[in-house]
Amino acid sequence: MEKNFDIYNLLKKAGGCILAPSILSADFSRLEEEIISAEKAGADMIHLDIMDGHFVPNISFGPPVVKSIIDKTNLPMDAHLMIEDPIKYGKIFAKIGVNIVIAHIEVIDNEEKWKIFAQKIIPAAAGIAINPPTEMPDDKILIKMMEIFDVFLIMSVNPGFSGQKFIPEVLPKIEKIAKISQKLKINRIIAVDGGINKETSRLVKDAGANLIVAGNAFFGAKNYIEAAKFFK
Ligand code: DX5
Ligand code: ZN
Repeated sequence: MEKNFDIYNLLKKAGGCILAPSILSADFSRLEEEIISAEKAGADMIHLDIMDGHFVPNISFGPPVVKSIIDKTNLPMDAHLMIEDPIKYGKIFAKIGVNIVIAHIEVIDNEEKWKIFAQKIIPAAAGIAINPPTEMPDDKILIKMMEIFDVFLIMSVNPGFSGQKFIPEVLPKIEKIAKISQKLKINRIIAVDGGINKETSRLVKDAGANLIVAGNAFFGAKNYIEAAKFFK
């Protein structure tokens, strides 16, 4: 089966930077309404934070909730799997219709697992996330990873909760991927997640990010249209 979602086309449509609000910061009692408001405000994608209480010290929501919201919007969705078994569960989210499924490098840590993961989630695109304390793989490995993953999600907080403070020490990770993709002329999505607001979004974009996840700074705002403008 071929991948049926063209994230590079979305990037173009979004004007060079994709805004993906995280519904972890939305009002769960009005989830449908919140997602429709995000779409109307100009969000490009919906970010789903999936937590299992093991990989991170929090539990969020799982496949039944995603299933209930997937058709409420025309926006694509990405599932950020902060869970210990992304190979098992990634497939389920892809089957529901999630367009990008992202696993953590702390749990799938070698080429064989990356390939199995990417294969299992077809037709969704594959992404890989890296926590702030985790060192970036060297250039040779990153180049290999670029053949497998379309999305590189740089965590700028320790995952588990929204509303945390941005960790600026992760900026060189963004620059590193941006440099390689420029050098090799391989277009890849460099996403940043955690503590993104008006100020920090500038920093990460300058470093080379082209997808920003925003939880609190989007759904915590009084006016989503104004909030979306900050990031655009
Ligand atoms: C953190 C999640 C993030 C979080 C972002 O574990 O992966 O996506 O919801 O929220 P903010 O933007 O408030 O840091
Ligand atoms: Zn996330």
